[in-house]
Amino acid sequence: MKAVAVLKNLPLEDPACFVEIELPQPALGPQDLLVQVRAISVNPVDYKVRRRPFAANDGPRVLGWDAAGTVLGVGAAVKNFKPGDEVFYAGDVTRPGANSELHAVDERIVGRKPKNLGFAEAAALPLTALTAWEGLFERLAVSVSVDANRGKKLLVIGAAGGVGSIAIQLGKLAGLQVTATASRPETQDWCRQLGADLVIDHRDPQAFKQAANSDFILNLANTDQYWPLMAELIAPQGKICCIVENEKPVDVNLLKSKSATFAWEFMFTKAMFRTADMHTQGEILNQISSLADAGKIRSTLAKTLDGLNAENLRQAHRLLESGRSIGKLVLTV
Ligand SMILES: NC(=O)c1ccc[n+]([C@@H]2O[C@H](COP(=O)([O-])OP(=O)(O)OC[C@H]3O[C@@H](n4cnc5c(N)ncnc54)[C@H](OP(=O)(O)O)[C@@H]3O)[C@@H](O)[C@H]2O)c1
Repeated sequence: MKAVAVLKNLPLEDPACFVEIELPQPALGPQDLLVQVRAISVNPVDYKVRRRPFAANDGPRVLGWDAAGTVLGVGAAVKNFKPGDEVFYAGDVTRPGANSELHAVDERIVGRKPKNLGFAEAAALPLTALTAWEGLFERLAVSVSVDANRGKKLLVIGAAGGVGSIAIQLGKLAGLQVTATASRPETQDWCRQLGADLVIDHRDPQAFKQAANSDFILNLANTDQYWPLMAELIAPQGKICCIVENEKPVDVNLLKSKSATFAWEFMFTKAMFRTADMHTQGEILNQISSLADAGKIRSTLAKTLDGLNAENLRQAHRLLESGRSIGKLVLTV
């Protein structure tokens, strides 16, 4: 099968940074689906894994875990899917990614593609939707009852990117009062269009005063940078969730007087450790699918590149690494 891979650590300016190669068709485990990849979306995890140093015996590195496609074959123990089904999923970072013609993925972390969305619009959703969903409803323990959330405030830091674009929508659906941060007119407009009640500029420290006493903070940007500010803004007994690893130690004592809770969200935890609730990722994606089909959430697709090839991946990584991406960028096959 055709695949686009990274063979060594080269700068993005080097046209050989990504190469198009032939690889054997992936072997299926008992719970695996063989998927014909129709579209993939790029995420910061792609460039983070691309940059990891290569060891001497490392083989080709295929990135791209966020995908939509059609099931071609199923492993012996697969229960929920059959050939011909259209699916979307965010995969498992401990296995090869989906920047290839065919891809093997465990059925437990796969959802049914929304019927009303094309493959590109669907591929924009899984990784960011799972991150936002788990961040809000599992780590921050936001209630799914709109009544319980009435009057409660959610602050989303870095809200115009991939994860924020879906977190705003899920926060509003849950009945929260959502404050989103974005620093440019176009990202601020994007957050308003997605339903944010208030948009503040994260480059203006004064603006954060408007987010004082937030019951929940979902920080999708730099953890070190926002740690002291989050400790200041969180309401007593509030909850903070971060998704970006800190580079320096953070002072957890800042949260003590408010009895504030801190939680990490890492979207790949369930697949990486084969947790007993791994199947909940498939269930969450099916709920996202139903919400999208009912018109309750919209795809966060902002830009599409036609062709899953080395040049388009280079362009996509360049845009994402700028840190100025809006919504999601998808490559179609
Ligand atoms: N733990 C997990 O499971 C998980 C899952 C997904 C992503 N992540 C990580 O979470 C981060 C965000 O992911 P993403 O997909 O949403 O990224 P993204 O789409 O690249 O985010 C781009 C947005 O980030 C905003 N931004 C840039 N610098 C910022 C800053 N200093 N403060 C606040 N906002 C800032 C920008 O807004 P403006 O242009 O308005 O400034 C831009 O719209 C990445 O580091 C990614 O690796 C972790």
